[in-house]
Parts: sequence; structure tokens; C-alpha cells
Amino acid sequence: MKRLEGQVAIITGGARGIGLGICEVFCKHGATVVSWDLLDDGHETAAELAAKGHNISFRKTDITNRDDVKIAAQAAFDQHGRIDILINNAGIIRDRSFMKMEDDEWDSVLNVNLTGTYNATKAVLPFMRNANYGRIVSASSINGTLGAFGQTNYAATKAGIMGFTKALAKEVGKYGITANAVAPGFIRTAMTDSMPEEVIKAGISQIPVRRIGTVEDMGYAYLFLASKEAGFVSGHTLHANGGSF
Ligand SMILES: NC(=O)c1ccc[n+]([C@@H]2O[C@H](COP(=O)([O-])OP(=O)(O)OC[C@H]3O[C@@H](n4cnc5c(N)ncnc54)[C@H](O)[C@@H]3O)[C@@H](O)[C@H]2O)c1
Repeated sequence: MKRLEGQVAIITGGARGIGLGICEVFCKHGATVVSWDLLDDGHETAAELAAKGHNISFRKTDITNRDDVKIAAQAAFDQHGRIDILINNAGIIRDRSFMKMEDDEWDSVLNVNLTGTYNATKAVLPFMRNANYGRIVSASSINGTLGAFGQTNYAATKAGIMGFTKALAKEVGKYGITANAVAPGFIRTAMTDSMPEEVIKAGISQIPVRRIGTVEDMGYAYLFLASKEAGFVSGHTLHANGGSF
């Protein structure tokens, strides 16, 4: 069964990693996907999915640029006539212990992870409001709950996403719109690929299901919350971490 047939989904940070995994799973489930990212690689990764017969397009978009995001949201609506789903996946890390953290490392992480989520949600919400339907799912993290050394900036944003999601859910529910978050655990992406194998093994030994997560695992966690069938789930953070806590 294709769960997103006929629906239009915007996925931020869709060029690679978890965002690309979400694009692929949503495409397989019949969605028309609009991928936004800073990276030009998004053209290529979207073209690869399109070549497999999927309905996906890419637009170079910086979610920290409010005007850029508004124009991109309007363009997606003009092209497809609807926006059913927004996945606020784009995020960055700038790890450093708090005592050594530079102001721009704090500012940039807040700007992308929180304000970028605000910008994209603000730009897309009016289209969902008019349609009386929408699914907004944003990226939190296991470290938003547990904290992590060197990640005061990142953990603050990922805990912030949980609060943002709960508050938004209370405001938009009456318009048929749900707001949820996914908090991934330890996931294999380009970032983890650069870690030494022993560090990866040590990480896996702490995970009850005894494996690292995949971008496809994340795609399916997002798929549930983005589906029509999840209409009674809102304000929730889905912890997709192999049972780590
Ligand atoms: N990988 C993990 O283990 C993990 C764990 C927990 C949470 N997460 C969260 O999941 C999300 C995706 O993580 P990932 O590992 O795939 O990261 P990634 O760095 O591989 O991908 C993030 C994407 O976001 C894009 N991006 C960054 N800033 C942007 C901006 N201003 N505008 C548009 N796009 C921008 C990047 O270009 C990149 O393509 C992030 O929000 C991250 O915090 C990841």
C-alpha cells in the first residue's frame, strides 16, 4: 500500500543523509517530493530518484533565508497545487565544549536548526491552513533528551524542537494539521562514516537492537507521522533510536 499517493511533501536538507532517505521512502510511497537543500548535490540525488520513475524535484534553498524560503514554498504550491507535508529535517552541528564555544558556533546552530524550522513552517503553514490539512514533522535528536559533551548548542536546538512541536500542535490542530518530531539515535550517514570503526562498534554495543540505524529506518519513522493514518498523533516526539533509552 502506498501511503502518500497524491500528496506533496517538502523535505528540507533532502540532498543527502537522513533527508535523502526520507525522500526515497516518500517517493516509494507515491508522494510528489520537493527537496530543498543548500547543497548542489541535491540536483544529482533528486535526478537519480527521478530516473527510477519517482516524482521528485530539487530546489536550492537556504532555510535561514526567510525570503528564499517563502519564494520556494510559493513555487512548490504553484507547481503542484498543494503542500500536504513539511519535513523540517535540515540541521547542522558545530560541536565544541561550552567553555571554548565561539559565538558564531552557537548562533549558526540555532539559526539553522531552530530559526530555519520556524522559517520553513511559517512559509508552508498558510497553504496547509487553507486546505484544512497538513503534516509537519521536524528533526529532533536523542541528544536533545540526553545531552552530549560538546553539544550545548545542538542539544538546546533539538530539545527546542520538541517544545516547538508541542506548542505548534496545540495551535494548528483545529485546522486538521498535526505537528510531530522524530528524534533519531545513532544513524549511519556521511558523518558517522568518518568515525573510527572502534567508536562505531562501541556505540552499537550500547544500542539494545545491536545495530546502527539507517536512513531508511528514519524514512519509515517520518512516513508514519506524515501519513493520513497518523491524524490522532500530534505534539509527539518519536524516539527512533533502537531502544537506547
Ligand atoms: N545522523 C544522525 O545520527 C542524527 C541523529 C540525530 C538527529 N539527526 C538530525 O537529523 C537531521 C539530518 O541529519 P543528517 O545526519 O542526515 O545530516 P547531514 O549533514 O548529512 O544532512 C543535513 C542536510 O541539511 C542541509 N542543510 C544544512 N543547512 C541548511 C540550510 N541552511 N538550508 C538548507 N539545507 C541545509 C545540508 O546541506 C545537508 O544536506 C539533522 O537535523 C540532524 O540534526 C541526525
